[in-house]
Amino acid sequence: MSAAAIERVHEIAVLRARIAAWRAAALRVGFVPTMGNLHEGHLALVDLARRHADRVVASVFVNPTQFGPGEDYARYPRTLEADAAALAARGCDLLYAPTVEAMYPDGSQGLVEVRVPALDDVLCGAFRPGHFRGVATVVAKLLNQVQPEVAVFGEKDWQQLLVVRALVRGLDLPVEIVPGPTLRESDGLAMSSRNQYLSADERRRASVIYATLIQVADAVRGGQDPVAAESSGRSALEAEGFVVDYVAVRSAGDLGPPAAGRPRIVLIAARLGSTRLIDNLLVDR
Ligand code: PAF
Repeated sequence: MSAAAIERVHEIAVLRARIAAWRAAALRVGFVPTMGNLHEGHLALVDLARRHADRVVASVFVNPTQFGPGEDYARYPRTLEADAAALAARGCDLLYAPTVEAMYPDGSQGLVEVRVPALDDVLCGAFRPGHFRGVATVVAKLLNQVQPEVAVFGEKDWQQLLVVRALVRGLDLPVEIVPGPTLRESDGLAMSSRNQYLSADERRRASVIYATLIQVADAVRGGQDPVAAESSGRSALEAEGFVVDYVAVRSAGDLGPPAAGRPRIVLIAARLGSTRLIDNLLVDR
């Protein structure tokens, strides 16, 4: 049985009208922002939003302001028809797919930016200058457009999740942020739209990221010095042909240095050929 088609909205005014009608009926709105090319990891976020809300909106927007020069903005997979079908099958109520012009009517001229300085230039921010400014800006705009009671963000982008929590707190946005657990392939590779860039050989080697996260987390939990654990994690990845941006053991709450009594997390960003992959694992759940 094929699911009914999902309603698609491209304009902010139409989005607002739909949501106003729900709100008038006292329905709780859940929101899942995405860049499309949806996989099971995204759809699990839709299921999670559904558990917290009466109506679920998913957005599909490949946000130009979070890609740096030479990154994969142009080749990022755009599969709106398949995304719409997958969302419909999952019982999502509305697909919001704004155009770049609707989202950034003034282009880069007069662009209003949101920044979370404490998280802006560490880890992925150091390797992708401006990335989190782009993320924070578009997420603030999307949250303001949809005005959901609840919004769901995947834990795979841990730093992004912290940036979003910080901007919600800093801008006093009345929304609850719910984290969605990372979904993995059977060999442990975290689901990501970027996995499809990998050749068959790279795809086989990519599972080493998760194995390395487990190795580093176990070592740190067992009392090994975090710097030594990071260094052996880096060697394990390099032995498989990765170019490693970082293997980092940090405090999970603010990405500061690991400290006694605070939950720790291991984060990895590493490149295989032209594909950059990220993943993380909590040391202390
Ligand atoms: O995680 C993503 O897909 C994007 O960074 C987000 C949150 C949709 C903002 O463009």
